[in-house]
Amino acid sequence: MVIEVCVGSSCYIRGAPAVIAILQSLISKYGLEEKVILKGSFCMQQCTQGVTVRIDGSIRSGLSKEDASRLFHHIVLPSLEAMGGEE
Ligand code: FES
Repeated sequence: MVIEVCVGSSCYIRGAPAVIAILQSLISKYGLEEKVILKGSFCMQQCTQGVTVRIDGSIRSGLSKEDASRLFHHIVLPSLEAMGGEE
């Protein structure tokens, strides 16, 4: 799974570094370094009131740093389980 966090200027100002830090720490907490690639991306043309993240090609925008852990638990973990990797 690839998670890209926009680090364009709008998202950067609205908290992209914090979102990356939270996702990074959750990835290592769950030992998912081999399954999840976390990387920065250029502006995805979805600049809103929050940070834009793309997970395996699907874009979510307007995220706050509080949304980062929700995103991880509600989207990342379940999709990894659906892929049959997580046990
Ligand atoms: S700066 Fe992140 S979508 Fe534009």
